[in-house]
Amino acid sequence: MADINTHSLVAEKGFLDIELDPTLDLFAEIEKLKKEKNAIVLAHYYQEPDIQDVADYIGDSLGLAQKAQSTDADIIVFAGVHFMAETAKILNPKKKVLLPDLNAGCSLSDSAPPALFKAFKDKHPDHLVITYINCSAGMKALSDIICTSSNAQKIVESLPTDQKIIFAPDKNLGAWINKQTGRNMVLWNGACMVHEIFSLEKITRLKVRHPNAKVLAHPECEEPVLAVADYIGSTTGILKYSQISDAKEFIVATEAGILHQMQKSNPEKTFIPAPPNNSCACNDCPYMKLNTLEKLYLCMKYETPEIDMDEELRLAAKKPIERMLEISAKYGL
Ligand code: 13P
Ligand code: SF4
Repeated sequence: MADINTHSLVAEKGFLDIELDPTLDLFAEIEKLKKEKNAIVLAHYYQEPDIQDVADYIGDSLGLAQKAQSTDADIIVFAGVHFMAETAKILNPKKKVLLPDLNAGCSLSDSAPPALFKAFKDKHPDHLVITYINCSAGMKALSDIICTSSNAQKIVESLPTDQKIIFAPDKNLGAWINKQTGRNMVLWNGACMVHEIFSLEKITRLKVRHPNAKVLAHPECEEPVLAVADYIGSTTGILKYSQISDAKEFIVATEAGILHQMQKSNPEKTFIPAPPNNSCACNDCPYMKLNTLEKLYLCMKYETPEIDMDEELRLAAKKPIERMLEISAKYGL
């Protein structure tokens, strides 16, 4: 447990002022802390490779929520972004949920402030609200069902065809689900900064140079990119497709962190990150990449920063997450 001084130092400044012994084997230390504290490390595929390698479970947003629901660990260390750790806390109020960097937010989540969304929802009183898990607890509390990219289609299809629906906050995922299901859901105008950056022109040029390459895209990408994709799905879906496909080359239109598991499980295949429409490394999520192995170690050692939640908000946000988990279990997702 952290002493009171370390706690207040971290609360004030993060881990910046704590000097780490450079000879420390962080992998071994993290394993030791896991055992000592009965802690589990859950990591998203967009985390840096070292974090993925030390994690107990790596998954997409649905898999991570399911794992957070079923774990009997006392401490959940969430190597991902804030809304993911918050979801784990909503499902586990008695457990300590740690996030290595509390600033690991999400541009998509930020695109839906609950107060604005409440006004939008009030204008559509006869609509059911399906909200993508990439949102704050405040947004979840305003929703009827949460979904992820791997269960959104099934959740929409489980509802009567005449049910009016608002889909938030990702307009690209919403439009793709509308197309897949023939529905006409009302879409909130939000998007992910990473998935909107891919250049169709550069992907098309890459396809000319690699004519046999399959294009794999996340449904958070814009429609013109999805239109040239051979496979569209969640991070887990994209990874699985690359494992079972006979193709030898893949152009990957999602955050570049996923390439680590792809390359690890298919060393003989070639994975090309889809290029962004400028010269920056914008297909790295700046929020996901705030977590580092050092911060992960320090957060486990000092048991901070911790996710804390108002109980009334937690209970309101829990209902639509549980509906998602129930529907997913029913369909074996
Ligand atoms: P999935 O891993 O559920 O596909 O979500 C991707 C994402 O954007 C997470 O922030
Ligand atoms: Fe949010 Fe996009 Fe980063 Fe995922 S990749 S955490 S949706 S900003």
